[in-house]
Amino acid sequence: MRVFVAGASGAIGARLVPQLAGRGHQVIGTCRSPGRAQRLQALGAEPIVLDLLDSRAVRKAIADTTPDAIIHQATALAGLSDFKHFDRSFAQTNRLRTEGTDALLAAAREAGIRRFVAQSYACHRYARQGGPVKTEDDPLDPAPVPAMRQTEAAMDHLDQAVTGAGGIALRYGNFYGDPDDGLVQAVRTRKFPIVGDGGGVWSFIHLDDAAAATILALGHDGPGIYNIVDDEPAPTSAWLPELAKIIGAKPPQRFPRLLARLFAGQAPVVMGTESRGAANAKAKRELGWTLRYPSWRQGFADTYT
Ligand SMILES: NC(=O)c1ccc[n+]([C@@H]2O[C@H](COP(=O)([O-])OP(=O)(O)OC[C@H]3O[C@@H](n4cnc5c(N)ncnc54)[C@H](OP(=O)(O)O)[C@@H]3O)[C@@H](O)[C@H]2O)c1
Repeated sequence: MRVFVAGASGAIGARLVPQLAGRGHQVIGTCRSPGRAQRLQALGAEPIVLDLLDSRAVRKAIADTTPDAIIHQATALAGLSDFKHFDRSFAQTNRLRTEGTDALLAAAREAGIRRFVAQSYACHRYARQGGPVKTEDDPLDPAPVPAMRQTEAAMDHLDQAVTGAGGIALRYGNFYGDPDDGLVQAVRTRKFPIVGDGGGVWSFIHLDDAAAATILALGHDGPGIYNIVDDEPAPTSAWLPELAKIIGAKPPQRFPRLLARLFAGQAPVVMGTESRGAANAKAKRELGWTLRYPSWRQGFADTYT
């Protein structure tokens, strides 16, 4: 298959391109600069420089490269650090998830491409009531905290637009697997505290497992939404001290909710205390997905020690 990967030079794209090429697919990979294009070529893709927010350029790129399938992995999350002004920090990513998705879907429609897989997100999205772990059928948070409303709405838009067009939205867990992961740096420097009781449940996924699931989704008929997460959703009070131990950092600081809210805003407090995790049974059952790292415990240890 000829596969067009938008955002091929990012964390997940760079794992996905070699896996696709290794399975005999021809990969067209996008990035935004010639320097990155060279790296993409080395990974096994035919590189093109493309701004996903330029819908005319998107249309031309798809028409010129004649892919059989499109994978949307473009985000603008590099160097993110301000979670207090959540929507402001995610503004460009939100545009890529709304305008970028719409541009790719329109180009796909015009070119008669039916296979479409896009990056969505599983964490901090499900309703903060009931059990700690949610399936794809469970409701999303009907009242996200004000600072995250635009970001949540952009992910909802992506899920609906992609599945409405017959495609597949993959709600990935929190990525890990890169040696210089931002989360790991924050834990190393003790900038990631346990807030309140640390009861917010997080789901993780190793980048290689996320890439493997993406390739399986490419061979599957849509529409569909899948949680692409590992087998062990865990409260912050469990995974955060364990990660600190694995990387040889001091134990995380502890902040009462009120103090954390004052310093860091409402979004990090809710993520650390109320978030729900995600279940992966549907992806295993319907995509035939198996994980190399069923638990972040082993994955963190193998990656960061
Ligand atoms: N589920 C998750 O937990 C999750 C999801 C996404 C990212 N992250 C994390 O966020 C950090 C940064 O992610 P990242 O390394 O993937 O970088 P990123 O800055 O989010 O970029 C991802 C991809 O999108 C492309 N891109 C950005 N703006 C674009 C635009 N306007 N048009 C077309 N393409 C565009 C980038 O191209 P260039 O390379 O040319 O900039 C890159 O290929 C990593 O630590 C990653 O693990 C986590």
